[in-house]
Amino acid sequence: MGIYVWGTGCGASELAAKGLPEAAVTAYVDSFFGGGTFLGKPVLRPEAVPAEDCGLLIVTSRDSQAIAGRCRELGIPEDRILFLKNHCTLWDRNCLCPQARELLEEAVWRRLLPRQRIVSTPAQLADSALSQGDLAGDYVRMASLELLCRRLTRVPGAAAELGVYRGGFARCVNALLPERRLWLFDSFAGFRPEEGAAPAFQAAHRNTSPEQVRGQLPHPEQAVFRVGFFPESAEGVEDRFCLVSLDVDFLESTLTGLRWFWPRLEPGGYLLLHDWGNPGLDGVAEAFEQWQRELGQRIPAVPLPDLCGTLVLCKV
Ligand SMILES: C[S@@+](CC[C@H](N)C(=O)[O-])C[C@H]1O[C@@H](n2cnc3c(N)ncnc32)[C@H](O)[C@@H]1O
Repeated sequence: MGIYVWGTGCGASELAAKGLPEAAVTAYVDSFFGGGTFLGKPVLRPEAVPAEDCGLLIVTSRDSQAIAGRCRELGIPEDRILFLKNHCTLWDRNCLCPQARELLEEAVWRRLLPRQRIVSTPAQLADSALSQGDLAGDYVRMASLELLCRRLTRVPGAAAELGVYRGGFARCVNALLPERRLWLFDSFAGFRPEEGAAPAFQAAHRNTSPEQVRGQLPHPEQAVFRVGFFPESAEGVEDRFCLVSLDVDFLESTLTGLRWFWPRLEPGGYLLLHDWGNPGLDGVAEAFEQWQRELGQRIPAVPLPDLCGTLVLCKV
């Protein structure tokens, strides 16, 4: 019986770091990128997973609701599925998967699973504009985004994201700000080589394309793609912004993003600095400190207790 890993993004690359030997993986599973290889193993489309050979399916993607449904259709029993992004249900899906504890070493098993499972919806978001799937990934991050977007009604300007990857966050911004232009900056080829991303992390961020992202957007006509490394990719962009998501993981690109976007953010606008509280990506917080030293002032900012510790900067 094999071990299959659903997802070819950074969640999948983290598995090795958390102690799951790559040799233990039979194949990766991905709805968009079946056919190639990831970390030396074949990537299968979900329908190609042999249900009878699937001893354990480790789901690294955040869309656990949809994946659980797809697995049911494919005949993969729930007691073979371990959801690593099981953060925001009120019950622990993984209690249905006793297999995992037997198949994985105890230490690996403990390291893989999230410790907190939250949350109930606050009254303000009873009529959320986001789908259950979008909210389920990182509830605090997405719920905060929605509340911030609702405060932008009197703030002019476009929205932007630097660091789009597969467009999970961009899709939500586009859904919440349907009247705004959405600038999307990404190399779509991973990180700048000089940032020193580990090979698996770099590989995990190459599985994307502007077409794949565009296909996910509810209002694709608002999207303007700038493909290539930033800040060169921003040449000629003259817009100003009400909302900026800065999510590029490393020091130099974060610093460049802060320098470029902050003067172009409208008063009342927000800049969301993702991964500021992520101990695995400490260049982000370091870039924020370095940038404030350059400016010679402390910028008021509010940290969020979301999965990677977003810092929200408010322009006055
Ligand atoms: C963590 S991912 C972004 C995830 C996305 N914001 C989300 O929440 O779904 C980081 C992305 O930043 C991009 N990136 C990093 N440095 C960059 C640079 N200097 N120019 C363009 N893209 C960059 C990478 O290609 C990668 O796709």
